[in-house]
Amino acid sequence: MEIMEITENKDQYMEYLLIGDEQESMVMKYLERGTMFALYEDFDLKTVAVVTKENNDTYELKNLATLEIYQRKGYGSAMVKHIIQYCNKKCKNLIVGTGDNENILIFYEKFGFSYSHTVKDFYINNYDHAIIENGKQLKDMIYMKIDCGK
Ligand SMILES: CC(C)(COP(=O)(O)OP(=O)(O)OC[C@H]1O[C@@H](n2cnc3c(N)ncnc32)[C@H](O)[C@@H]1OP(=O)(O)O)[C@@H](O)C(=O)NCCC(=O)NCCS
Repeated sequence: MEIMEITENKDQYMEYLLIGDEQESMVMKYLERGTMFALYEDFDLKTVAVVTKENNDTYELKNLATLEIYQRKGYGSAMVKHIIQYCNKKCKNLIVGTGDNENILIFYEKFGFSYSHTVKDFYINNYDHAIIENGKQLKDMIYMKIDCGK
């Protein structure tokens, strides 16, 4: 397993990035300024992620996605661990925003993330269509955070 930083032509990975954030105009808001990582195994791309510097204290995991056929095999976890390491001492907190989806919240808790705050109606106000997950329309963005030791 190898995790590479992608510095050029990040939009070539759009098909993958849309798994984590389904509206291209939203992805384009952070893709260029973000640091992008790609996880490969056996020369095959499994997982992508984008991290942004929001300010001197805060980095944000903006996009995390594993191709559906490779999900639940540990690739997403390996990427989250890599990003936590990447952020170590660079900032006070790494945050991640997600819909109100218990599976995803539990996924992040496993690495030590805890609840930070909620942005009411984020999905309604920022996306041009309803975002449905597990048969439920997402409305609020739930932010979780982890201490990065700066
Ligand atoms: C979330 C995501 C990145 C996880 O990637 P992954 O490669 O499957 O991650 P891992 O295999 O390391 O871990 C999967 C864990 O996530 C949780 N999880 C993810 N999807 C789940 C689901 N549909 N049902 C139950 N648990 C789920 C479980 O805790 C699971 O662990 P387990 O398999 O040991 O039970 C992947 O499911 C994905 O791309 N989802 C769609 C995009 C998305 O929601 N991104 C997160 C935005 S914040």
